[in-house]
Amino acid sequence: MTRKTRIENSVSGMNVLYLGAGFVGACSAAVSADSGHTTLVYDIDRQKIGKLRSGDRDLVESCIYEEGLGDLLVRNRDRLEFTADYRKVEAFLDRCDAVFMCLPTPEINDTGESNLSFYLDAARKIAASLRRRNRGAQGQYVVIVNKSTVPIDTINKTREILDAAKVRNVGVVSNPEFLVEGQAVMGALRPDRIVIGAERKKDFAILRRIYQRFLNSPTVRYIEVNPQEAAAGKLLANFTLFSRLAICFDVIGRTCESFPGIHFENVRQILSSDPRIGAWGLYDSLYAGGSCFIKDARSLRFQLQGREKNASLVHEIYGANRRQLQGFLDRAEPEAHFDWTNKRVALLGVAFKRNTNDIRNSPALEIVPFLAGKKIRDIRIYDPAAMEDFRRVFPPSSKLKYVGAESEAIAGADAVIIATDWSQFRGLDELLKKLRKRPLLMDGRRMLQSAYGPLRKAGFTIIAVGSPTA
Ligand SMILES: NC(=O)c1ccc[n+]([C@@H]2O[C@H](COP(=O)([O-])OP(=O)(O)OC[C@H]3O[C@@H](n4cnc5c(N)ncnc54)[C@H](O)[C@@H]3O)[C@@H](O)[C@H]2O)c1
Repeated sequence: MTRKTRIENSVSGMNVLYLGAGFVGACSAAVSADSGHTTLVYDIDRQKIGKLRSGDRDLVESCIYEEGLGDLLVRNRDRLEFTADYRKVEAFLDRCDAVFMCLPTPEINDTGESNLSFYLDAARKIAASLRRRNRGAQGQYVVIVNKSTVPIDTINKTREILDAAKVRNVGVVSNPEFLVEGQAVMGALRPDRIVIGAERKKDFAILRRIYQRFLNSPTVRYIEVNPQEAAAGKLLANFTLFSRLAICFDVIGRTCESFPGIHFENVRQILSSDPRIGAWGLYDSLYAGGSCFIKDARSLRFQLQGREKNASLVHEIYGANRRQLQGFLDRAEPEAHFDWTNKRVALLGVAFKRNTNDIRNSPALEIVPFLAGKKIRDIRIYDPAAMEDFRRVFPPSSKLKYVGAESEAIAGADAVIIATDWSQFRGLDELLKKLRKRPLLMDGRRMLQSAYGPLRKAGFTIIAVGSPTA
């Protein structure tokens, strides 16, 4: 029996459609299939769909680098299908119980307003399909579930679209996603919370069936609220985490940078031993990137200002993060008397953080133009997972070369910038000591903090977030 017919003949579990096969859609759909639901995933990106449906772990990882995703897809292939063919979506809608919208992070325009066109276009398309297939009029009830992080009132817009298309027998639910990139599969298999925002009992009931495996888990908080609370909870959770990082970078790290003899890690021990402070986010970094925190803070500010509320604290947190990256890069000239002109720079790490190939809002995206502006000779870039995507933004040239290992990147470099916290970079000190030339070391993640003493003794000048330059 082909995979297609197995999916079409399945009668057990629920029938769940995912729109969008990104980090959230692909990982959540894999867990949906693993929970016994027949799951169809649609994405407009044919290349991505081709890789996800290949059954080849390397190909899967080349588009979504998430540990365990390849295994989960292969294990559940009987209940899981990826497609870029919208006709399959139309056919699946005849018996579908829920449509999960996992569409891209909305772009934020200059004023901070979210561009919801991806989301609203997809909602309109689904509404038209439901209407065409006579679903929602007298057919089986279906819920449209939003997993994308969107402004608080987006649920009303979804309802308006469905009403305008005269699709009735349909519910709208907000089910924000809290997964952490780099641990997305583990996060989706073992979530700390599931938040369902709905207005109708039957919508809550459908979602309980979909998430049945987590309902009675002692480690999962299953939270039922209204849709606006669910959307607000997601935005505010992200802002709370973002502000924690901003405090760490812009206040704690800055204090440690300003007073010689203070070790960031020792201060962190003191802080984290207070249970009211806790340990999360107590690290120093050149930037908090990624697809969520930055745009969610800008969107929150816009939404508060739209209600004529003061949003200056939200704006300041966003500004503190930007200041951190610029401040880090600006330290080389005054603190190390380093002239960038005509220098060779090794850039280690272009993913926004370790264990992902996601480059959205990665510090490297800002570092490359910064270096170009400084008239450097060339840049050698290495990242274990994210070079393919980065290459699309910055194609290789005589001034920008992608190499196969960190040792190759640092050979002959005048400056080495560590921009991503890949664990393997912790061993860089040994490689650095073997170099004949002593490049300026700019550690944007404190990856080598235990080796700063020996490296200084070996003649290196080190600029690190959270430390004064010696
Ligand atoms: N990535 C995270 O860590 C994370 C965590 C929590 C919440 N979120 C939120 O979840 C949402 C999805 O995030 P992501 O990281 O998976 O995004 P992503 O950009 O990786 O994936 C979105 C996918 O949607 C596809 N797409 C675009 N238009 C489509 C359409 N009309 N029909 C079907 N597919 C379409 C794109 O091709 C892409 O593959 C965002 O709103 C984000 O804010 C993300």
